[in-house]
Amino acid sequence: MSSTTARTALVTGAAQGIGLASAQRLRRDGCRVIGADLTEAAMEPVRGQFDGVVGVDVSDSAAVAALRETIGPVDILVQSAGVVGPNKPMWEVLDAEWDLTMRVNLNGIFAMMRAFIPSMKERGWGRIVNIASIAGKEGNPNLAAYSASKAAVIGLTKSVGKELATSGVLVNSIAPAVIATPMNLDTAPHVLEYMLSKIPMGRPGTVEEVASLVGWLASDECGFSTGACFDISGGRATY
Ligand SMILES: NC(=O)c1ccc[n+]([C@@H]2O[C@H](COP(=O)([O-])OP(=O)(O)OC[C@H]3O[C@@H](n4cnc5c(N)ncnc54)[C@H](O)[C@@H]3O)[C@@H](O)[C@H]2O)c1
Repeated sequence: MSSTTARTALVTGAAQGIGLASAQRLRRDGCRVIGADLTEAAMEPVRGQFDGVVGVDVSDSAAVAALRETIGPVDILVQSAGVVGPNKPMWEVLDAEWDLTMRVNLNGIFAMMRAFIPSMKERGWGRIVNIASIAGKEGNPNLAAYSASKAAVIGLTKSVGKELATSGVLVNSIAPAVIATPMNLDTAPHVLEYMLSKIPMGRPGTVEEVASLVGWLASDECGFSTGACFDISGGRATY
């Protein structure tokens, strides 16, 4: 039996892609898993795979605070909600496109951690896994807002990991390269082609491969890593 038995995990962006695969993995590992996505309706097709589902727009900090009140404390927080944002040269990006990308990808991660960390700290155990991206380390052309938001998630995670280092709450991010998920449908073909060409293994990753890293980072077996950014990029990352 897994060491994470009976722990409660909250997974955002859980309706599909990396979030759904991570939730499935945590459930297999014995966790009680609550799945969150933009609306409860978005979770409807997968509701049966969860112990509870909720609709929350992570970019709305009041909604996030209300969610914490409704569902109570959780032991594990996996943050997979995210958007690709504008696919265009940086100087053509509109304020609204920039703001939306930052609000979901960065402010959402901030608001969720702020809401759920105090109870983890109080209980002396917690695992947080923030899904960043290789784009945050290397910067993908024509994805400036996305790359900047993910770089910020990596930095935010580093800070919080250090703040909580002796508390029993470990906070890490992961930096996937292209993973085969519905998100890639929102990526322009030439941008996707560039990203795939940068992967030495010559293929996209699978959601199961990402979920297995998430599963370890969410477990007791991960005991000496915090504030780190874990590579899962088929060899693309060089640091
Ligand atoms: N797929 C990739 O190639 C890849 C690579 C690196 C990083 N990532 C990151 O992994 C995470 C998951 O990506 P994915 O490929 O599974 O994406 P996806 O588009 O398949 O799933 C993302 C989910 O997040 C939800 N979501 C979007 N905005 C939200 C909001 N404001 N509030 C709550 N939920 C919201 C969507 O409804 C969707 O279900 C994202 O943060 C993404 O940036 C993905």
